[in-house]
Amino acid sequence: MRRSKSEPVPDLRRARDGASPAPRFARHEVAVARCRRRPAGEGTNPWVGVLSALVMGNSEIFTKGNVVVVNGAADGIGLAAAKKFAELGMKVCMADVDGDKLSASSKEVVLPALAGGGADLLTGRVDVADLEQVRAFSDSVFERFGRVDVLMNNAGIPGGAAPWDDIAGWQKVLAVNLFGPIHGVSAFGSRMIGQGTPGAIINTGSKQGITHPPGFAGYNVSKAGVRAFTENLEHTLRNIEGCRLHAHLLVPGFTFTGLMRPFFDEKPASAWWPEQVVDFMLERIAVGSFYILCPDNEVSREMDNKRMQWGMDDLIRDRPALSRWHPDFKDEFQRFSS
Ligand SMILES: NC(=O)c1ccc[n+]([C@@H]2O[C@H](COP(=O)([O-])OP(=O)(O)OC[C@H]3O[C@@H](n4cnc5c(N)ncnc54)[C@H](O)[C@@H]3O)[C@@H](O)[C@H]2O)c1
Repeated sequence: MRRSKSEPVPDLRRARDGASPAPRFARHEVAVARCRRRPAGEGTNPWVGVLSALVMGNSEIFTKGNVVVVNGAADGIGLAAAKKFAELGMKVCMADVDGDKLSASSKEVVLPALAGGGADLLTGRVDVADLEQVRAFSDSVFERFGRVDVLMNNAGIPGGAAPWDDIAGWQKVLAVNLFGPIHGVSAFGSRMIGQGTPGAIINTGSKQGITHPPGFAGYNVSKAGVRAFTENLEHTLRNIEGCRLHAHLLVPGFTFTGLMRPFFDEKPASAWWPEQVVDFMLERIAVGSFYILCPDNEVSREMDNKRMQWGMDDLIRDRPALSRWHPDFKDEFQRFSS
């Protein structure tokens, strides 16, 4: 089913151009950057991030020779991330449930960017919903490279119909979008902690997991779970003595990827390219952000802040659930958000 451009894709739309140049990473203690966090919301100006990185030092994790694992890596944001990590000189492990697409995109897009060629690449057909497959891939990665510095749990699918409908759809979307990151952390986490070196676990959430626009219940629930899981993961990691591993929640805006191609013939003006998401992610991790809330070409950080604030105020002010989409609150929300 192709969605016309006029039909809304809630919270996967809108804002101002946030294209950012690729950051350069020097070898500095990641702890330095993490101690000197910038307030949220500054990241929409690309030069702010680059200047901050130069002043404060940068993350050492995205650096030559380090090992990164990306799942959902055959397309979209995962593929753009794998390519960027290759360009930074890292050894790249790509997993995806679509083995043919993974084979093609790893060869065509990632391999040419790898300093060590095929010796720096590992691919695996992995369904992140299946813990045994994720564990087996983890074993292959540690056997091949002996370490993992960055884990990006990125695989995701749309789905989940009305709250009482399509139980198989609910199980599928939760199995991939929520249990994917849980399985990834289960299979890789303790070994990464055990290394005692700086590292990152990046879980891909969604604005729909924060503001819950109606019509995508299963997806919203799965991504709300990813947020809660990742917050708890980061809290746990920072309370482990000597642990230098940190979690990050990546929240893309509207991004033109394989997920969106069934709905749009070409990139809508409001969407970011996946490469922009990846550059923004690296910029924000370099300065120690946990929440990596991406704008897009239509939705600014300020607009996101208002939408998130309104949603939280539903609880605080005892308004109806999802009052942003309730006819009685339409005008008030318009005034609030303008
Ligand atoms: N594109 C957007 O606007 C947008 C917005 C917010 C969040 N996201 C999230 O970003 C992440 C990446 O999505 P994308 O937009 O790049 O989509 P995409 O479809 O281009 O890429 C997703 C990849 O995940 C793979 N995948 C699907 N199920 C899998 C499974 N069970 N095991 C392993 N791999 C699997 C797919 O084969 C595909 O290669 C997802 O978690 C998505 O929910 C995307």
